[in-house]
Amino acid sequence: MGINYWDSSYESGFVPWDPGEYDGHLPYLLDRFNLRGGRALDIGCGTGKSLLWLAERDFDCTGVEIAPAALKIAERAARRRGLHCRWLLASFPEDFAAETGEIQRYDFIMDRGWFHLYTGEGERRRIVRAIADRLAPGGIWYSLIAARVRGGGFGGPPRWSEKEVRDAVSPQLEVAELQLSVFTPGEEGSMPSWRAVFQQRRLP
Ligand SMILES: C[S@@+](CC[C@H](N)C(=O)[O-])C[C@H]1O[C@@H](n2cnc3c(N)ncnc32)[C@H](O)[C@@H]1O
Repeated sequence: MGINYWDSSYESGFVPWDPGEYDGHLPYLLDRFNLRGGRALDIGCGTGKSLLWLAERDFDCTGVEIAPAALKIAERAARRRGLHCRWLLASFPEDFAAETGEIQRYDFIMDRGWFHLYTGEGERRRIVRAIADRLAPGGIWYSLIAARVRGGGFGGPPRWSEKEVRDAVSPQLEVAELQLSVFTPGEEGSMPSWRAVFQQRRLP
């Protein structure tokens, strides 16, 4: 799916992945992994609601997104709430280094429904390497990945088995949690999803 698909979705307001608020798994994750501020990056941040929630909790936030229409909404919401985040109109990982200008490392990287879009083994490995390069020692990457489970329905994004998640990530990063959950907690009929948490092996 190219930039035009995403941009026109945000332009038209047809964004079935967007719960209209921050990711409902975040409160649990901050508590469970003792995340208290630090540098946060949301890849494919969409309209930025999760990042704004993190910014309110003292994270130094960066969002990277290819759809200009999504970032316009994010910027407007940040202004309205008096919050500061860096919004980068760029494709991760290709254009990201050029946009940030230097190699920054993040304590917390998240993606909600972005990593699971990649279906080839080679491209998954490429993404994992790029994220591992950006994680600070001991840093956490949380990815919300559509799960392929019995009776899980069809349509929507590519769905991954537990083995696919482990095989894609574990050569580089520690699997700290892989929990079958739903995409949007509290939403009826929400898509089964892996709440996946990976950790940089090098500890602080
Ligand atoms: C399923 S949507 C999820 C958006 C947001 N995380 C949310 O939960 O509302 C995937 C997002 O990834 C963005 N995206 C796709 N490929 C990207 C890339 N290479 N770099 C940055 N963003 C990308 C899309 O524009 C879209 O906003």
